[in-house]
Amino acid sequence: MTLAPDHPTAAREIAAKLEAGKLDDGAPSARSLWADRLRNAAVILLVAGLVLAAMAVFGDLPVPRALIAFACIVCAALVPWRLRGVDIVVPSTLTANPVEAPAVAAIVSGVPDPTVLLDRAGRVIHLNAAAAQLAPALRKGELAQFALRSPEIVTALREAIATVETRRVSVQDRAPVERWMELTITPVPVPTAFGGKDSCMLMSFHDQTPLRRIEEMRADFVANASHELRTPLAALSGFIDTLQGPARDDPRARERFLGIMHAQATRMARLIDDLLSLSRVELSAHVRPDTRIDLVPIIRQVADGLEVLAKERGVTIATDLPQAAAIVAGDREELLRLFENLIENALKYGASGGRVEVSLAADAPASEYRVTVRDFGPGIPPEHLPRLTERFYRVSVGDSRAQGGTGLGLSLVKHILNRHRGRLVIDSTLGEGAAFTACLPRAQPLSDAKS
Ligand SMILES: Nc1ncnc2c1ncn2[C@@H]1O[C@H](COP(=O)(O)OP(=O)(O)OP(=O)(O)O)[C@@H](O)[C@H]1O
Ligand SMILES: [Mg+2]
Repeated sequence: MTLAPDHPTAAREIAAKLEAGKLDDGAPSARSLWADRLRNAAVILLVAGLVLAAMAVFGDLPVPRALIAFACIVCAALVPWRLRGVDIVVPSTLTANPVEAPAVAAIVSGVPDPTVLLDRAGRVIHLNAAAAQLAPALRKGELAQFALRSPEIVTALREAIATVETRRVSVQDRAPVERWMELTITPVPVPTAFGGKDSCMLMSFHDQTPLRRIEEMRADFVANASHELRTPLAALSGFIDTLQGPARDDPRARERFLGIMHAQATRMARLIDDLLSLSRVELSAHVRPDTRIDLVPIIRQVADGLEVLAKERGVTIATDLPQAAAIVAGDREELLRLFENLIENALKYGASGGRVEVSLAADAPASEYRVTVRDFGPGIPPEHLPRLTERFYRVSVGDSRAQGGTGLGLSLVKHILNRHRGRLVIDSTLGEGAAFTACLPRAQPLSDAKS
């Protein structure tokens, strides 16, 4: 990197040269400095020359003396001098490295990703707050290699400096939380104080963690979905083989196997239905439903529809619903699905309690309706509660499968509630049952909505 001049007089000379547009890359030579000084004193020298010439012509001064006098004036013009107390204003670009300018610092600090600007040797020139947070050991003026101990980063930095080419490297950080960063080191040509070019290195870190997580979730989802489909499919083809082979002439076995095949086919159809419903709700997640729906008849309809299942399981459904309408802005089909999932779960997994309560309460200050489905079954161990709404998550996979479950019900419930700007609260005490509360914001009164 070119050094800035440290002598004020020299600086003045260079400033004068800069104004005259004669600045070159290297340090100014003695000859060029003299030429500049003569150029600066040109008017004085011209006038002095004319006066001395006139005096010599008119005989006031002998020619040799006139020449000596002119030579003395020229020498005086070549002497570097300045008035005491007069500070010569030198452009800041000449006294400082342009890359260290506040404007560059402002640009680096304005970049949202962690960003560090290094000089050619790898010393930190600027870093923004995000970079300081990411690598607290980074210090201005110190080598970045010492602060960023990761071998991948140090190697990439060395290579980028040596080749003056862009380098990209993925870095995995395990503490305090696991995250993935992509580091890009880009050489940036920057002007030097004397109009030359130097290469700095711009290091920027891009957080890839959300992308990785989505990628992992997608892979998990595909694996889960295909596994869930493969199981009933394998059962179906196994029974087909049996029916075509050993059980061909056994009417009783045929009847029994056809019943199982029907159940498996229904399960596959349900899984596909649930997956389609999930993707539909996700696609329209940003569009809030706006139809005014009364929750009371919807809950009643679902409870009545599940009476047959309740009887089968020996459970009674008790409803505690208000007389007045409970209006929300919603999608009727989705709300039916939501309550169907919650009440069906209570009937399937809380059957041992023998009773399921469905209640609707209006929470006036929070301006929302709370629909609670409570069962008195075995309850849910606390460690499972945070993950219950994940796709395919089941407390006991065997138990859920035996009930014909796919593990998508609560995930669908969560997405439907999100779309309705509501939330799901799960409360359970082991051995005492579980309560699932769907909170839905009240619709604005019609008079407000119109105004
Ligand atoms: N009331 C409840 N009591 C105990 N466990 C429950 C209750 N509700 C849900 N669970 C547990 O949560 C898991 C996830 O429920 P979810 O409704 O998402 O899936 P599922 O019922 O297994 O399948 P699907 O709803 O698609 O038929 C269930 O498998 C069950 O283990
Ligand atoms: Mg369910």
